[in-house]
Amino acid sequence: MSSTTDFLRAHIRTVPDWPAPGVQFRDITPLLQDPAVFRVLIDAFVQRYREAAMRVDVVAGLDARGFILGSVVAYQLGVGFVPIRKKGKLPFTTVEETYELEYGSATVELHTDAVKGGDRVLLMDDLIATGGTMMAGKKLLEKLGAHVTEGAAIVDLPELGGSARLRASGMPLFTLLDFA
Ligand code: PRP
Ligand code: HPA
Repeated sequence: MSSTTDFLRAHIRTVPDWPAPGVQFRDITPLLQDPAVFRVLIDAFVQRYREAAMRVDVVAGLDARGFILGSVVAYQLGVGFVPIRKKGKLPFTTVEETYELEYGSATVELHTDAVKGGDRVLLMDDLIATGGTMMAGKKLLEKLGAHVTEGAAIVDLPELGGSARLRASGMPLFTLLDFA
């Protein structure tokens, strides 16, 4: 395990029994709070997507913590950022997708002009649990003819099977660390 992984893991707070009894919530906010740690976090993604082979035209961020990461990574890569939002928040015409969450269900939306056919999109979130959110994001981008180059997140919770399901569906994934 790399020292960057250990360093980042040490700045994730585990909150027991939140938002429901029995859930160990992995809270990424301490990673953002300290500027030196935030930089290490963002650089881990930027380094990877600066590689020519990973060419990214647009970064899409999943509501809400994917906005924090995705917008900064997009800025550093010199590409645009598009938000995939929970239903009812985007003002223009949208495409939508409903999916099951670890706790409940949700619908996400994307503006119809957010990406163009053939765009290579990096899809970002903070964490992959069941994988439902990331899969819904991928489907929205594909409805508009874009190609998801890779899904990226800080944390994978492999025991929930989301990352395995996403990979089995053919989606390349990059995560910085996992909690088994
Ligand atoms: C969390 C997390 C991911 C998603 C992961 O967000 O930030 O977006 O759940 O779960 P999944 O892999 O099972 O889909 P949440 O839906 O709780 O929304 P929030 O960002 O508004 O808190
Ligand atoms: N942390 C953040 N978001 C989540 C989690 C978690 O542990 N589980 C499902 N979504």
